[in-house]
Amino acid sequence: MLSAIKPKLILGLALASLSVSAAEITVQVDKPGATVSPTLYGVFFEDINRAGDGGLYAELVQNRSFEDNASLIAWTPLTNSNAVATFELDKSSPLNANNPTSLKIHMEKSGGDRVGIFNQGFKGIVATGKFPETSEKWRQAFEEAQCKPINGLAVVAGEKYRFSVYARAQDFSGKLAVSLETQSGELLTQERVKEVSKDWKKFELTLAPKKSDVDARLVLSTDKSGTLWLDMISLFPSDTWKNHGLRPDLAQMMADMQPGLLRFPGGSFSEGHILAEAWHWKETIGDVAERRGTWNIWGYRSTSGLGFHEYLQLAEDLGAQPLYVAHVGMAENDFVPMDQLEPWIQDGLDAIEYANGSVTSKWGAVRAKNGHPAPFHLKYIEIGNENGMGYSWGGGNRADYLPRYQAFYERIKAAYPDIVCIANIHTEPDAPADMVDEHYYETSDWFFKAATKYDHYDRAKPKLYIGEYAVKKDAGNGNMRAALGEAAFLTGLERNADVVVMSSYAPLFTNPHWEKWKPDAIVFDHTRCYGTPSYYVQAMFAANRPDVVLPVNLPEITNAVPMLFAAAGLKKDSGDLILKIVNRGSRSEGLNINLPGLAEKYSKGACTELSAESPTDENSFAQPKKISPKVSTLPAFSQGCNHIFPPYSVTVLRWSKN
Ligand code: AHR
Repeated sequence: MLSAIKPKLILGLALASLSVSAAEITVQVDKPGATVSPTLYGVFFEDINRAGDGGLYAELVQNRSFEDNASLIAWTPLTNSNAVATFELDKSSPLNANNPTSLKIHMEKSGGDRVGIFNQGFKGIVATGKFPETSEKWRQAFEEAQCKPINGLAVVAGEKYRFSVYARAQDFSGKLAVSLETQSGELLTQERVKEVSKDWKKFELTLAPKKSDVDARLVLSTDKSGTLWLDMISLFPSDTWKNHGLRPDLAQMMADMQPGLLRFPGGSFSEGHILAEAWHWKETIGDVAERRGTWNIWGYRSTSGLGFHEYLQLAEDLGAQPLYVAHVGMAENDFVPMDQLEPWIQDGLDAIEYANGSVTSKWGAVRAKNGHPAPFHLKYIEIGNENGMGYSWGGGNRADYLPRYQAFYERIKAAYPDIVCIANIHTEPDAPADMVDEHYYETSDWFFKAATKYDHYDRAKPKLYIGEYAVKKDAGNGNMRAALGEAAFLTGLERNADVVVMSSYAPLFTNPHWEKWKPDAIVFDHTRCYGTPSYYVQAMFAANRPDVVLPVNLPEITNAVPMLFAAAGLKKDSGDLILKIVNRGSRSEGLNINLPGLAEKYSKGACTELSAESPTDENSFAQPKKISPKVSTLPAFSQGCNHIFPPYSVTVLRWSKN
């Protein structure tokens, strides 16, 4: 007992100097409870706030296929006062049916100097924060915002960039110069495309800039007369995450979250404003030049360069279970009539075959052709997104959703009984569901109260996936208060791991210059990124996900909503003991930690602490790690120990046996 008493005395002294009281917390190590699912802490990827095109997808050229808009956005004609040249979007001789528009440059007279076009990458727009009601209004806002350049194209000296273009020509016998330049025209590197003929042909070059520049531009030009058609102008860094086409720093941020689950492709993104703008997975696989792309509900066009295959690959690369959100035939503003639902159901079934089917199956063979003969082991399908939650959420009410959901559910289960079907709403008692997805965007107070929400969940009901949640209403740009609310909530999910088997914070990414939704977990621009305090909560909880829940009794520190929240558990293989404590209050709280039934001696321990001076503190590009986890060692113990939890903190205590 001596070793337990001694630290208590020390704690007492420490607490006296801090004027905090020591309370008791008991972790019942002798009463292991529910198994914690490896998918409990996941991520939800949606192309929102430029998370995909202009973000995780490493393409540097915006509007590469000239399909983004009816006008020539993101490209600027480059001409000279003596030249006679026209630049127009042209559909007379498409590259292919999915990519009907190309750029036609007609040079009657080059004027002795170069004529061409340049692209400045994913220039940012100033976010309006408003939500235009129709896609037409989104489009207008998009077009207007293109006039506000924020960032150019970032290139790094010593790196190699893969450039490609489809080109054809008429009465043109010159060369097409391809260069990276500074905004003032200083040449960083230049190569040439030769022998452009009358038929479409793909040309590939490597560009190696001699100097780094965060505000560069890609220029295609010539000084010869004639007519040129250009399409699919692409510039990719050679170095992408695991060589799968993703921006390394952003993908690594995701990997560092150690997600057990990857939900994709959205969100409202997967539904579309209208059915005509829905994301169809079959249009997002194979050669990127053949992918149709789609208008993204979040205010820009998605190229589908990040497509179904890439998402499955990303899940595999992250070591996460893929969760595909299938379109249930309900967009935000129109629905497929029940008697026309069949092709949509078949799309869902084919998606499963693409992911899992043998290489001799129709879609398994396509997967193999696309470079992945082994199955992706897709196990989770969500039938729709937020459909049936009522019109204020977007896509339809319960009566609209139930028959469509049921039609999907029955067909998927008949063909693939092991696939776990996730419903958007509690379909019981009208229809079966393997799991239900719940979404919460609320205040921090709501989340503090909801820490006990699932203590009272009827265990006869379906298992739960908390697929989207975040403190949204008093969260600033992603402050500590938000992180505290989410962490408190997560202690409740973990303690109720018998019913809550998956969760994912949302949204994952934002480029503040394209922001339509905040806060988010990861903030980036064209060269930098950082995690919000919420990001670190996610990473800390996932890195310390126990395999088994241990009951934990925490004293009532305050009345209605507690100041402290806790969850505890064990790692099966190592025997590591993990205790998570959230202190939402403005004063330090000391706890004597009791561990009845603890037989083994834990000889080493680590404390990971995330804290802030004020609940409104945030990280920023200027101070990206102002609020970030600090790790320290803990003394060994055999019967119990004590710890002081600072104000506004999330702490993980983890002890190991040797
Ligand atoms: O996460 C942002 C949006 O919130 C998602 O697209 C949608 O599912 C939800 O309403």
